[in-house]
Amino acid sequence: MSVGGDVNKAKLNAARKAVEFITDAEVIGVGTGSTVEMFIKILSELGSDFRDKVFTASSIDTVLKLSDIGLKVLHPASIERIDVYVDSADEVDRDLNMIKGGGAALTLEKILTYYSSKRIFIVDHTKLVSHLGEKHPVPIDVQPYALRMVYSYLLRQGYNPKIRYSVKGKYGPVISDIGGVIIDVYPPKDFDPQELERELASLPGVIETGLFIGLADYVIVGYEDRVNVLKREVRSM
Ligand code: A5P
Repeated sequence: MSVGGDVNKAKLNAARKAVEFITDAEVIGVGTGSTVEMFIKILSELGSDFRDKVFTASSIDTVLKLSDIGLKVLHPASIERIDVYVDSADEVDRDLNMIKGGGAALTLEKILTYYSSKRIFIVDHTKLVSHLGEKHPVPIDVQPYALRMVYSYLLRQGYNPKIRYSVKGKYGPVISDIGGVIIDVYPPKDFDPQELERELASLPGVIETGLFIGLADYVIVGYEDRVNVLKREVRSM
């Protein structure tokens, strides 16, 4: 079997396991991306079990996917609390800290994550890293007025910023779901994720960062033939 096939099976296994975490929930937040897409597909196969629940989504893409299968989707602005949030990640380290935002949906993803009682992340095993930044940059969502100023600051700091450009379907920078512009930050190797998060989040013009520190309660890691459920022992926030 091809590597892609293995990874898809691994994603599917993780996505299937996540269903166990939402059965008692009334309000469910759903993230964005190809792994989440599999989770939504599984919900559609399970059919009526989820029709009495309320969903909210971290992106327009997920709003469409959830409503396409007949689920009730509310705007995040109308939601007071979320019982369970299900999303994926680009990288997960040993402390269950994560990089997210490969799909430019990081700000709403972090908001929904933070305000959820239980936070579940579903990843295939290729997402596990020993140090964040091994395979992916750290995306930040930037207020368009501040784009050049934030970019120049990051350049001076040695963070090798790159404005994310659309490859197809649109000229110019990728616009995030909340109207920001995405800058991908390539910090020096072995950076301290917590310190970088503190610095980036404190910059005026930075709406949100793709560093998710201490925010995962469970990470479900899918392999081709099994899953491994990793649990954070102490919830930090
Ligand atoms: C969306 O912006 C991201 O945070 C995704 O959650 C992350 O990129 C994982 O996506 P895939 O499941 O497509 O790898």
